[in-house]
Amino acid sequence: MTPPRKSIHGSWSSRLAFVLAATGSAVGLGNIWKFPYIAGEHGGGAFVLVYLACIALIGIPIMMAEVMLGRRGRQSPINTMRALAAEANANHAWRWVGWAGVAAGFLILSYYSVIAGWALAYVFRSMAGAFSGATAEGVGSIFIQLTEDPERLLAWHTIFMVMTMIVVARGVKSGLEQAVRFLVPSLFVLLIMLDGYAMASGAFDEGLRFLFTPDFSKIDANGVLIAMGHAFFTLSLGMGAIMVYGSYLPERASIARTSITIALLDTLVALLAGMAIFPLVFSNGLEPGVGPGLIFQTLPIAFGHMTGGVVFGTLFFVLLVFAAWTSAISLIEPAVAWLVENKGVTRVHASVYAGAATWGVGLLTILSFNRWADFHPLSFISIFEKSTIFDLLDYLTANIMLPLGGLAIAIFSAWVMRREDTVQELDMGDGPAYRLWHFLVRYVTPVAVIIVFLNVTGLVDFSHLFRAG
Ligand code: PFF
Repeated sequence: MTPPRKSIHGSWSSRLAFVLAATGSAVGLGNIWKFPYIAGEHGGGAFVLVYLACIALIGIPIMMAEVMLGRRGRQSPINTMRALAAEANANHAWRWVGWAGVAAGFLILSYYSVIAGWALAYVFRSMAGAFSGATAEGVGSIFIQLTEDPERLLAWHTIFMVMTMIVVARGVKSGLEQAVRFLVPSLFVLLIMLDGYAMASGAFDEGLRFLFTPDFSKIDANGVLIAMGHAFFTLSLGMGAIMVYGSYLPERASIARTSITIALLDTLVALLAGMAIFPLVFSNGLEPGVGPGLIFQTLPIAFGHMTGGVVFGTLFFVLLVFAAWTSAISLIEPAVAWLVENKGVTRVHASVYAGAATWGVGLLTILSFNRWADFHPLSFISIFEKSTIFDLLDYLTANIMLPLGGLAIAIFSAWVMRREDTVQELDMGDGPAYRLWHFLVRYVTPVAVIIVFLNVTGLVDFSHLFRAG
């Protein structure tokens, strides 16, 4: 048995603190902003079903694998992969999994921060009463005014990046744990209230039907890849965010139980958000497939008409900002931890370097919504015909980099690492639960990721299986 290593960055004060931080990382814009709009774009029910299946069969086992690798390696994902590869006598190229994760984190945060900036802007719009009595049209034009102005977007993006750098610079423990403790429960309460409002909106049934009645003729291979990619994105998997959080986890915490808890909370938030939004979409004659503006064009209508809407609307966007904030910090933590370990810089400097680089890349996303809105660099590929740079960054990271990262993590954990080491680290014995995990990570994840990729590239076509009936 190898003695446990120790992290130089400190550790969470308890198992609960880890659950809160990892939940904070998982629950974010992905649940409230992205899930509804991509479900809307890909026809609803069938997409949601594929997404849920991916969470259960791929997401939870990969989350356990990432936490396990992090806790065993106790360093930034790059150094963890290097150390664990050495321990297993494997090729040191495995450290590239860590590097790819750092790159994915940068790219994701670069656009994530811009969208979080929209949420920040909406806090102030809501507070000023801009939504009171608003119609779908009025709310739509508020959204367009914001996104068509690069200077405003830049200002909010800058504020959000600075907020992120401040928390990351302060380190693992202070601030973060507290924020999530308050955030997750409040978010639940607010979403349930919004669901109550949606229930009375007259189109609740239609919304639920859209979300939960699978119609497989509405989803194609690309839709399946997007659903799978989103399972990685929403659980913060495939890039080392959960791995680095796992490296601060105290010994003797059940990895299986914590992973399941985090995944359930995350899924619940996404479904509650979807159930609030689609009834509003239908009762206001809006299109479910409008894209990234969906929540910003629907929820304000509800706030504009309910009693106390100014307070609730403001609170909702504040919570959304918090949710994005606790995710953003996990997106650059792998890079920051590596800079501290390998470059001998302080956390403060590391946060500034990593944050400034991300901020710069964010300009591409800002321009995608205005000056470059008609620039479609890959328009010669049919699925990217209308994709802006923002769309491509999102596609590249969520649907390609994260699933590939997940695939590598699966292969490493279940084919490269010694079985007895994973039994020891997961600490749940060698019974049916361990075997189920091992089977899912060893076979199900790699096969699923590879099949879905082959399908999208058109090399193999399984679509007749869906349409057989
Ligand atoms: N899980 C976050 C969300 O759903 O908003 C986004 C995210 C955070 C993705 C951290 C990846 C990551 F490593």
